[in-house]
Amino acid sequence: MAERIIVTGGAGYIGSHVCVELLAAGKSLLVIDDFSNSSPEALRRVEEIAGSGVTLLEADMANPAHTEKIVRAARDFGAEGAVHLAGLKAVGESVAEPERYYRVNLGAALTLIEALKAAGARLIVFSSSATVYGERNESPVDETGAIGPANPYGRTKLFIEEMLRDLARADVSWKIANLRYFNPVGAHPSGRIGEDPLGVPNNLFPFIAQVAVGRLQKLKIFGNDYPTRDGTGVRDYIHVCDLARGHVAALEYLSKEKTPLAVDVNLGTGVGYSVLEAVAAFKRASNRDIAYEFAPRRDGDIAEIYARPDKARKLFGWKAEKTLDDMCSDHWRWQRENPEGYGR
Ligand code: WQD
Repeated sequence: MAERIIVTGGAGYIGSHVCVELLAAGKSLLVIDDFSNSSPEALRRVEEIAGSGVTLLEADMANPAHTEKIVRAARDFGAEGAVHLAGLKAVGESVAEPERYYRVNLGAALTLIEALKAAGARLIVFSSSATVYGERNESPVDETGAIGPANPYGRTKLFIEEMLRDLARADVSWKIANLRYFNPVGAHPSGRIGEDPLGVPNNLFPFIAQVAVGRLQKLKIFGNDYPTRDGTGVRDYIHVCDLARGHVAALEYLSKEKTPLAVDVNLGTGVGYSVLEAVAAFKRASNRDIAYEFAPRRDGDIAEIYARPDKARKLFGWKAEKTLDDMCSDHWRWQRENPEGYGR
């Protein structure tokens, strides 16, 4: 079993929850983060929740000047595998600055590969995205769905997946899991860690939460004329703690599998909810009014996407357990108790 794990981007929204679950599973962690879109406070709170510590290396995975210290740290730590989450993730920004997205996201993955090789480890759980699927797939989408990301951000995820698959073909000792996340939302039930976006949120849940807490006035619902049950977009929202457990399950699977492998696996619930259903659920959970208005469709959005999550159950013995109400009440607890996030 791989016990000594590097977590790149471990201080971020998903990373902090992954660290909590890995620590609960008894793993030793080397977190590598440059805090460009995260806070050291998140890691402090991870340690408080877990009751155990992590080793931290503050470094930028994509900066060539940091490569040497990253490689050395991985070797000194005795890494046996990695969960790779470090990267840029704003869709709109990736359209405006594609070169930066390719340099940072692909560069970070290459540095991780080098560091693992130096440490003698060959195991990566990669944070991919349902965004790698093309727009024409019918939901539920399984892992054989047509590929075709609609923006540079999505293409960086796809290209890293391809790179990792090539590694596994070239050297059978590599074990790779590309985890295709649907829409991660919610927060740890303690209310101590959660999503803390810089500036005005792009994504639905953080936006709703900031309306509920009074930081933002009104939600704009992008489109009410989609061919869905109420005209608003449908997505597969998944509780970030379920998602985090999925990483531990993937790691255990890769550790015990003997055959060479690279697997692509959806992490979703298999259930789609509309924007209006999400707003209604958040309203119930928070007991606050969520003011909204309908606005034109957002460029690049599709009507509906949700996962077929059967492969994760079959391979990893994992499935999402938490409901939309859990997602909303946990997201709300985090937002209410930390109205300014980590106060960055
Ligand atoms: C969900 C639904 C919107 C905001 C994106 C990326 C994806 C992934 C996660 C990240 C849609 C509607 C949203 C708002 C709204 N990547 N909406 N008003 O678009 O499914 O996925 O985030 O790292 O790559 O594309 O998530 O939360 O932005 O939107 O009406 O202010 O909410 O139209 O139907 P999306 P989302």
